[in-house]
Parts: sequence; structure tokens; C-alpha cells
Amino acid sequence: ISLYGSFYEAHAMKIIITKNYEEMSERAAEIMLGVVKQNPKAVLGLATGTTPLGLYAKMIADHKENGTDYSQIRTVNLDEYKGLPKTHEQSYAYFMKKNLFDGLGIIPEQTNIENGAARDAEAECARYDALLEELPRDIQLLGLGSNGHIAFNEPGTPFGSGTHVVELAESTVKDNARLFKDISEVPQKAFTMGIRQIMQAKKILILASGESKSDAVYKMVKGEITEKVPASVLLLHPDCILIADESATRKLKANQSRQDSFVGRVVCDKKDTITV
Ligand code: GLP
Repeated sequence: ISLYGSFYEAHAMKIIITKNYEEMSERAAEIMLGVVKQNPKAVLGLATGTTPLGLYAKMIADHKENGTDYSQIRTVNLDEYKGLPKTHEQSYAYFMKKNLFDGLGIIPEQTNIENGAARDAEAECARYDALLEELPRDIQLLGLGSNGHIAFNEPGTPFGSGTHVVELAESTVKDNARLFKDISEVPQKAFTMGIRQIMQAKKILILASGESKSDAVYKMVKGEITEKVPASVLLLHPDCILIADESATRKLKANQSRQDSFVGRVVCDKKDTITV
């Protein structure tokens, strides 16, 4: 944590609770579009997973209707399965092209992601580390693993980590198996941006939807900042917004009314927005 220098103490995390997935995606789109419109040359840190799909669909719809310009935008992705080339249908590079870039007219030269097929993993991590230094992100979008991971930084990852290769947690392989024909096809390793680099983004937007994220949301915001819950590091970021739907905040809300130490740290801003 000493890495963060003056960011020692916990800053406020803004939490927006929405009725459902649709509304979560809507609010997230407002924030992303705000960044793009304010700076047409913005660097967007992007994420994969099912959670951001609604947001991506809204960005594409807006681009078609309102012509929001992405021609000078650059993107940086969080992670990629090790061993999968970018042409592989299960690769995150392919996912991004299919679900966002093609719809926004973003060409490959504007995008960055780890090369899953790289022979020399160490050199690939070093390449990505250098690239991240050159491209400070205006916003970093994140999903949340059900075990509290962010990108592929599994529980126990040092907060000071840079780009590295991870052995995926058993629960992550299981969670992600739904997107593969068979669990045996899920890669066991991945490249991921490190936690230190996630924290370097100017702004962080983390999305969570559904009951399966309720425990991770609770652990993330209840205040214990620990490497056992990678997402808890976000409490140290000066500008982090969590948008979560009702079901993802069930445990958080259930515990809000109890007289435990958590209660004192939750302040109601306005309806459905709490700041921890
Ligand atoms: C994956 C990805 C993460 C993602 C998370 C949640 O393992 N590496 O970046 O945020 O799982 O996925 P989903 O949004 O599908 O629940």
C-alpha cells in the first residue's frame, strides 16, 4: 500500500444502486459517454465479461443515433486468456471486436490488449507494462468476480502488482465455463493488468449485477481493505464509482441497518446513492 503515497487513507467510493441490469447499464453509459464527449482523444480502459454487455450495446446505439465520435479514442483492455490468439472466438480480443469495437468503428490500431498467443510471457508482460505507462487511462471500467477479483487479479494478488500471468482460481474457471462448450476448454492461465495499474486510472467505474455478486460487493465496500478481496483496494481510489443493481447489493443493504461498524461508514447522499 505504501506504493500509493499520498493516497494512504480511504477515499469515498460512490455507490449507485439501480433497480435492475438495464438501469445499471444506462447509468454506466451516461458516465462513459461523458468521458468520451469531454475528451474525444480519451483513453478508455475496458473490460470483458457479461456485465458490461448492456453498457456496450448502449454505447453502440448512441454512436448510431447521435454519431458520438470514437475516431481518436484509444482503448486498453484488462486481460486475456493465455494461449488463445486474438482470432479465437473465446479470446477477449475477439469478444471486444464483436461486442464493441466493430459497432463503434474502432479499428485494431486504436486498441490494446495482451497477446494471448505470445511465446515469451515475460516479454509480453513487460511490453504491456510499458504501454500502460505511455497511455494513462481517463477511465477504467471493471467487472467484479464473484470471489472479489478484478480483471484476473485473484484473491491474494499483491496490490503493487503489474502485468502478470495468473493461474485462474477454480471458482473463476467454473464461473467462466458457462461461456465455453465444456469446462475442459476454459484456459487455466491468463495475462492480466496488475492492481497497481488499475489504480492508476483517473477514474474507475465498477459494475455489478445479480445475486451471485452480492457477497463480493459486500466484502468490497464493507471496509476491510485486504489482498484477500482484490476489489477492496478500490476504496483507496480517489474517484471510484460502483453501479450495482438491487440483487447485487442485497447483502450490503441487509447489513446496513445492523448496528455494526459498517453502518457508521455509510452515508446516504440522495436516494439510492450511498457513499462509503
Ligand atoms: C472474468 C473477467 C473479469 C470479469 C469477471 C466477471 O473472470 N476476467 O474481468 O469482470 O470475470 O465476469 P462477469 O461480468 O461475466 O460476471
